[in-house]
Amino acid sequence: MKRVALLISGGGSNMLALVRDMAERDHPAKPVLVLSNDPAAAGLQHAADLGVVTAAVDHHPFGRDRAAFEAALLEPLLAADPDIICLAGFMRILTPGFVTRFEGRMLNIHPSLLPKYPGLHTHQRALDAGDAEAGCSVHEVTADLDAGPILGQARVPVLPGDTAETLAARVLTQEHRLYPAVLRRFAIGDRRPVLLP
Ligand code: GRF
Repeated sequence: MKRVALLISGGGSNMLALVRDMAERDHPAKPVLVLSNDPAAAGLQHAADLGVVTAAVDHHPFGRDRAAFEAALLEPLLAADPDIICLAGFMRILTPGFVTRFEGRMLNIHPSLLPKYPGLHTHQRALDAGDAEAGCSVHEVTADLDAGPILGQARVPVLPGDTAETLAARVLTQEHRLYPAVLRRFAIGDRRPVLLP
């Protein structure tokens, strides 16, 4: 049974989709920690309501000292002894030092069809480019932002009249399908990408 730590920054809808899926009888993994960089993240209470251990390390007191923040973050994270780390709406950039420590067992979900649109404002960028489709990607986290091996993708159509908000909502629905499907495979060592129509 693989032990999964989930890192969030806000509502944690992707974390909830993963935690609910891991509650299914046949799942090869279980959640051992939900950790946030924001003590006020709504996802922390939702996780606690589902019986998952939670912790928070506020990044604000560390200012621009990323290494010091990450050293504080490591404490509850290592105490949970995770096999896999899922970044799920985690909005802090992690240093290469932190990432290499978990390389090969840290995943992230990004709201674009990587390698298109790494970084922020992905939906507006897809609209501005006139793309006919958009979507989300789950990838292994490496030192290069949003650039690790792709473990899964889900595609959605861009519809006439779409705004960044309407497109984000359509993609988010697919994120909640894609991430649990990828974690099920990843937890049994199957690296074949999950491609959802
Ligand atoms: C989602 O769009 C996800 O792709 C991005 O953060 C957003 C919020 O995710 N990484 P969540 O609802 O906090 O899981």
